Amino acid sequence: MIDANTKICCLIGEPVEHSLSPLIHNTGYQALGINYAYVSFRVSDIKRAIEGIRELGIRGASVTIPHKVSAIKYLDKIDPLAGEIGAVNTIVNDDGVLTGYNTDGDGALQALEAVTTLKGKKAVLIGGGGAALAIAFGLKARGVKLVVLNRTEAKARKLAEKVSAGGFGGLKKLSEISSADILINATPVGMLLETDQSIIPKDLLHNRLTVFDIVYNPRETRLLIEAREKGCAVVYGYKMLLYQAVKQFELFTGLEAPLPAMESALTQASEGGRDATHFDRR
Ligand SMILES: NC(=O)c1ccc[n+]([C@@H]2O[C@H](COP(=O)([O-])OP(=O)(O)OC[C@H]3O[C@@H](n4cnc5c(N)ncnc54)[C@H](OP(=O)(O)O)[C@@H]3O)[C@@H](O)[C@H]2O)c1
Repeated sequence: MIDANTKICCLIGEPVEHSLSPLIHNTGYQALGINYAYVSFRVSDIKRAIEGIRELGIRGASVTIPHKVSAIKYLDKIDPLAGEIGAVNTIVNDDGVLTGYNTDGDGALQALEAVTTLKGKKAVLIGGGGAALAIAFGLKARGVKLVVLNRTEAKARKLAEKVSAGGFGGLKKLSEISSADILINATPVGMLLETDQSIIPKDLLHNRLTVFDIVYNPRETRLLIEAREKGCAVVYGYKMLLYQAVKQFELFTGLEAPLPAMESALTQASEGGRDATHFDRR
């Protein structure tokens, strides 16, 4: 029951209408019986939105596209990892002091570590955007030998230099996959409207690979279907979505998140509780 003491958390981004974050977070609050509520705000002016968080005493915010980088300059403190990544996906308000965090990398790594060990393994990471960068930091911190490949090679080089990856290149170097243990797609290729697409030709997949597609809409991307057909272990993008939200939940509430309840809400939504076209970005 919402009352005068309810702590409000929110999502800020554009678009936000089809986000699953309110569902995941509110399910968690209900499961623990805590007086919190989570809502979405479509935001074009991030500066004024952050002033609003401060003025209204909003406890925490998830930050999504297009504000993950631009939000940083309006916050009071930045967690060191988010500072290195140069982007935040989470804001916590402690009595008017706003701190930015980035839980995307941890969320991705938790999803991956549920399926495979990482230390000493070789990973090929496809992509050079914000999500790829957050994941690259996590992989390097866990002793993974990392090769970054991206459509725009200059961005792969920049990312590789930032995290001291062992190699980088354009998409012509996809043959690196033949000696890899882990393959990660951190591009939007395979998302709705182009679900017949995969950035990786099927014949490059092999059964020693763990394949992680961070696209979560649809849940079964062409890449993951083909990876399973080739005998690979697979990691679903929705797991990253779940675990980054779990970390946000714990930052907002200071309590251990009720993972089974939150996961069940998310999987029900993705399995037909909602139309697939509504299983969209955070
Ligand atoms: N599961 C989760 O929780 C989660 C979390 C964050 C993001 N995501 C998803 O991850 C994807 C990437 O997000 P982001 O924030 O990193 O985006 P971003 O910063 O815009 O970066 C997108 C990257 O994908 C590459 N790319 C885009 N279209 C491509 C194509 N047709 N062929 C080859 N490469 C292409 C871009 O290459 P260029 O450099 O050449 O442009 C760029 O490196 C999105 O689909 C997003 O929804 C999922």
